[in-house]
Amino acid sequence: MSNYHIKHLEEYYQVYRKSVNNPESFWEEIAEEHFLWRKKWNQVLKWDFDTPEITWFEGAKLNITENCIDRHLATRGDKTAIIFEPNNPDESAEHITYRQLYERVNKFANVLRDQGIKKGDRVCIYLPMIPELAISVLACARIGAIHSVVFAGFSANALATRINDSSCKIVITSDGSFRGAKTIDYWLQPLLDAASEEGKAEVMDAEDPLFILYTSGSTGKPKGMVHTTGGYMVYTAYTFKNVFQYREEDVYWCTADIGWITGHSYIVYGPLCNGATTVMFEGVPSYPDFGRFWEVVAKHNVNQFYTAPTAIRALAKEGVELVEKHDLSSLKVLGTVGEPINEEAWHWYDDNVGKRKAPIVDTWWQTETGGIMITPIAFATPTKPTYATLPFIGIQPALLDENGTEIQGNQVDGRLCIKFPWPSIARTIWGNHQRYKDTYFSAYKNMYFTGDGALRDEVGYYRITGRVDDVIIVSGHNLGTAPIEDTINEHPAVAESAIVGFPHDIKGNALYGYVTLKETGESRNHDNLRTEINQLITEQIGPIAKLDKIQFTDGLPKTRSGKIMRRILRKIASNDMSNLGDTSTLLNPEVVEAIMDNAL
Ligand code: WT7
Repeated sequence: MSNYHIKHLEEYYQVYRKSVNNPESFWEEIAEEHFLWRKKWNQVLKWDFDTPEITWFEGAKLNITENCIDRHLATRGDKTAIIFEPNNPDESAEHITYRQLYERVNKFANVLRDQGIKKGDRVCIYLPMIPELAISVLACARIGAIHSVVFAGFSANALATRINDSSCKIVITSDGSFRGAKTIDYWLQPLLDAASEEGKAEVMDAEDPLFILYTSGSTGKPKGMVHTTGGYMVYTAYTFKNVFQYREEDVYWCTADIGWITGHSYIVYGPLCNGATTVMFEGVPSYPDFGRFWEVVAKHNVNQFYTAPTAIRALAKEGVELVEKHDLSSLKVLGTVGEPINEEAWHWYDDNVGKRKAPIVDTWWQTETGGIMITPIAFATPTKPTYATLPFIGIQPALLDENGTEIQGNQVDGRLCIKFPWPSIARTIWGNHQRYKDTYFSAYKNMYFTGDGALRDEVGYYRITGRVDDVIIVSGHNLGTAPIEDTINEHPAVAESAIVGFPHDIKGNALYGYVTLKETGESRNHDNLRTEINQLITEQIGPIAKLDKIQFTDGLPKTRSGKIMRRILRKIASNDMSNLGDTSTLLNPEVVEAIMDNAL
């Protein structure tokens, strides 16, 4: 019997060594002992980072919803699978048992089948955080349809791009939401009422796509990351159980939205595969007041609480009184994800929320990785503020220098890569395998390149230092500069623009835009132009991509080959003008002075 729960550091090192010395037999054992397969695999792993081609559990047959739901019915039928906490605190929470989840997923799946949706069809889901979101995700998986959840905060245009890119056959949406109005699709209700509570699960290949999830890249349109079934299931379930040390009676809450990978892996699939009770929260941390998270923790006796640094900073700002008002003694483990957590926020979380008794798991991972990659294992790995600490079982990180040479030893920093495949790595970009290869496997030979920089301290702990490409993490949301710049450039008065990030108290980073107008004597008021530019961004992408600061410039600093020197713009935006480096080789060194003089 493989050790499913890792209990102390020594055991971590022991299991880790096993997992990297013999990955195939390690993952085979986990997969065999803890999951339900209709048919076993022919080969555990095949991989080639050159093509790139990666398969896990090839030839195996399964349905992930049988692992998330059906297999729990006998022993956990009446256990709560999902606690739905509505936006309005005066409305009562809804407890959905595993049996009810089974029935509701089947009903939804049968409605989709009746609408002609078949295995392999793409289904776009554009819903707020209501139970139907989790249920429709599982209903797709039940019938083998590939779900593509689009975060409900994205604009109609962003939705359209994603529907078209993956040629979705149907869109599941609501006529409003309770960060505003009312909940589910009324036309769906009569269909659901009439649908059967029973339904067979489609038998899927381990490598059949389970879902597409879009993430921004540093250039071009969003990338539809394709995750497949078997490996994704094994890895998300195994990481969930270990990182958070989930026990049978625990109530677990991840505050993310199911529209992001965090919600896919650690609200829906990972917890349900383990027969866990997972909280799904419709609202926001600030409503009806900034104590809402703590109220919900106390109300449902939450044991594991997983949130984002940006939320912690926003709540810390409101003072500890709102935390102290609530009984948080149920909390055993705290987690963060999405961006580096600063030391102050880490301590605030540790002191006031965990009362220094609940370990903080700072989990580093990405949409592309499917599951948590570098993280403490609660109670086993000693934590260190701002450090994601050690690679999870089976994960082989490497730091590379600019020449692509792996940096050995400790107390070093470099570009973070992964040397060996893990079961939940995204297999391709929908409709563009070449872009998958170019983005992740071409920077360094035989390595998956993460886009992040990291350092390794004297004991081998990793600290993520941030993106080394043109992706900016704002409030934990991954934003590419190129699509925002393209949008700004659509404004008739704009000639050119460049976006950089600058440090922000709550959001971590905020966006600073440098905009050159077509006519220098543009008669319109600059404030009006700023409003128009942000309106355009809201329409084309969504409010999360709005700029905090917009500076109008006569030109942008460029290299002789015409490439915008973002490094300089980044420094000016961060108010760090002391060492801009050599600007004399620029095509237009004179603009730098002017930009500095007018910096916001
Ligand atoms: C990027 C991936 C993984 C779910 C949410 C984000 C940054 C993520 C951490 C962390 C420092 C982090 C990285 C990464 N990031 N977690 N614990 N410490 N940075 O998914 O939108 O695909 O963004 O988020 O820069 O590359 P994503």
